[in-house]
Amino acid sequence: MADRKPLIAGNWKMYKTVSEAFETAEKLVGLVKDVDQAEVMIAPPFTALAPVFAAVQGTNVTLGAQNLYWEAEGAYTGEISTSMLRSAGCTHVIIGHSERRQYFGETDESVNKKVKAAVTAGLIPVMCVGESEQERDDNKTFSVLDKQVKIGLEGLSLEDAATLVIAYEPIWAIGTGKTATKEQAQDVHRYLREWIGNNYSAALADSLRILYGGSVKPDNVSALMAQPDVDGALVGGASLDADTFSQIVKF
Ligand code: PGA
Repeated sequence: MADRKPLIAGNWKMYKTVSEAFETAEKLVGLVKDVDQAEVMIAPPFTALAPVFAAVQGTNVTLGAQNLYWEAEGAYTGEISTSMLRSAGCTHVIIGHSERRQYFGETDESVNKKVKAAVTAGLIPVMCVGESEQERDDNKTFSVLDKQVKIGLEGLSLEDAATLVIAYEPIWAIGTGKTATKEQAQDVHRYLREWIGNNYSAALADSLRILYGGSVKPDNVSALMAQPDVDGALVGGASLDADTFSQIVKF
């Protein structure tokens, strides 16, 4: 098995003003400065990207955005391009989070355009996939995921996919306190890795990092991380507090 360095990513969603974000980032930097077992990324809202970058620059904490728009520039009121993200210090970008799909009309097709724009710009895409509770109850989990990765990655070359990170986030586990069991997570992660092996290459399947997201907390992260195909976590609520998030980072 490849040596996949875990990635623990914090998604701050629509929380924190500029000063709150800066203070949390500064505190986190101090708490995780000796961590080597995992890469650490935080994704604050757009307004806090530059100040958070000032806090994390030169440390082992990297910066991600929560979204992007695929056009290079233009009359797209309210949107943010990859070069803007790069210039603000981002190395990563979360794409296709279920909240974006659910509340802002994102589709597998728009996710695909965003993933391609990210890799073209040299940003690491963290592409989110996951099934709803109804879909799981109807035994459609794998067919839903299959469609999400198939369309989400359509036209992406093996070379372009080299930096890809996939985050499996069952919608029913996000912000609900209901975590997938470690077995449920492992089953899906194995499925996704096999999908990459069948559609790209065994080498990419082996090196690809697949994160789990959905109510990850300090007390459940270790069991999830012990699964062979779980390579990190995408953490929402528990990433907002530097102490709590640093405990997750040090799982
Ligand atoms: P949660 O969110 O940890 O608050 O469940 C995870 C996410 O939406 O990325």
